[in-house]
Amino acid sequence: MTAVGIDAIEIRTGRLKLDLPGTFAPEQGEDPEKYTKGLGLHASSFPDSYEDIVTMGANAAHRLMERKGLEPEDIGRIDVATESAFDNSKPVSTYIAGCLEQVYDGDFHHANKGERKFACVAATQAVDDAYNWIRAGRNRGRAALVIATDTALYARDDPGEATQGAGAVAMLIDEDPSVVEISTEQGYGSADETDFLKPQQQFPSVDGKRSMQVYLARMREALEDFEHLSGDTHPDDYAYIPFHTPFPGMVRKAGLLGYRHMIRDTGVEDELAEEIGRQPRREAFDDEEAYQEAIREYVDALAETERYQEWYGNTVEPTLSISREVGNWYTGSVHIARASALRDADEKDIDLTGQELLVGSYGSGAQAEIHAETVQEGWREEIEAMNVDEQLDRRYDISFEEYEEIHDAHNHDVDSDVEELTTPENEFVFDGWGRMGERK
Ligand code: CAA
Repeated sequence: MTAVGIDAIEIRTGRLKLDLPGTFAPEQGEDPEKYTKGLGLHASSFPDSYEDIVTMGANAAHRLMERKGLEPEDIGRIDVATESAFDNSKPVSTYIAGCLEQVYDGDFHHANKGERKFACVAATQAVDDAYNWIRAGRNRGRAALVIATDTALYARDDPGEATQGAGAVAMLIDEDPSVVEISTEQGYGSADETDFLKPQQQFPSVDGKRSMQVYLARMREALEDFEHLSGDTHPDDYAYIPFHTPFPGMVRKAGLLGYRHMIRDTGVEDELAEEIGRQPRREAFDDEEAYQEAIREYVDALAETERYQEWYGNTVEPTLSISREVGNWYTGSVHIARASALRDADEKDIDLTGQELLVGSYGSGAQAEIHAETVQEGWREEIEAMNVDEQLDRRYDISFEEYEEIHDAHNHDVDSDVEELTTPENEFVFDGWGRMGERK
């Protein structure tokens, strides 16, 4: 069977940066370490007044097409995943295609365009759709463009405000991919939940603490479901495990949950038993509360073991490096976690070709999905071609007063006419609601 997967990735960050410990913490009256150590974030990316989900998505897609030497006729499908859409009828992919058509001779009249919505898991679903479209032989030799793009903004003074971010990830899905081959086995954990909603409103209504419990519960179910198909997982089977990253502190919890689950009934659990005992088994407890308490104690002890810390430091921690600097990008988050992992391997000169990644996606509402990927030969060249560091470095560091103004500018309910803080550099810019971006 021909391999199908991700052939290229490009990341586009908002042009502004909010320094969380330096600028945000003092205004909130919070200890900076709540952000750097607790949530695990140093900065958020913010869109300038001329940026939105269309311009960021189009700029990422344009760079990807230029780098890969693609023309519109090479793309048979454009799917956008977003939870920041402004149009309930026309998909954001049509706006992005409109932008791209300004700079290419051909157009995308032949391409199937759509928009995927299931909170942050939607981009993984769109990658799935593209994968299935190619596997079904309906692609007529063309590749699919999947674009995850979000302005993940919360209302001022909402606890989520510290985890904001804005950016886009464009991915090319094709046969014989250069970056990763996607496996056919998938595990799901899905349930109707109401901890994070945006019903006809721009900023989400969030029960933050509950949202964390729901994330972990669905992720555990997805891992169990994945194991039903592919057999028991072992933590050492995977070079990296990129998770959906609303903020790195959440992934610290997901990593521990995954490890505890994967070592059950393995030699690792046996080896650790002398130090911290064995995992409590539900059947040994009459009382649910006592069982939960025993689990908490076991997990706390597990987190302190050298073996776990080494595994986490090699397999999960490196997936958080971009996220720490940009905040939550909703649909793009798990995909920047994968890119962070590959960048880490490149920096450490690890030979990743043929090694496996286990990817854990999640969307509120709620659904988790887990699948494995095999790293392909061209991964290093692809990851080195990304200019994410350059983009992060050129962001303009905003003051708190500028942050307040720019937050208003992106709040459709507030009449704001804020000046641009950076100058567009040969890129698509926002040109009014319902219009595609113009290239300036
Ligand atoms: N030094 C070190 N650590 C500190 C600290 C300090 N001075 N002060 C606090 N901390 C730690 C806390 O102990 C806590 O860590 P633990 O959870 O490990 O105990 C962490 O910093 C955060 O502190 P709080 O819990 O007090 O933070 P909060 O209540 O103000 O906000 C939040 C946390 C509720 C998650 C909030 O950021 C939020 O609502 N976020 C949006 C919702 C979200 O991201 N949910 C995640 C799951 S849902 C999802 O994944 C989908 C999605 O993308 C939104």
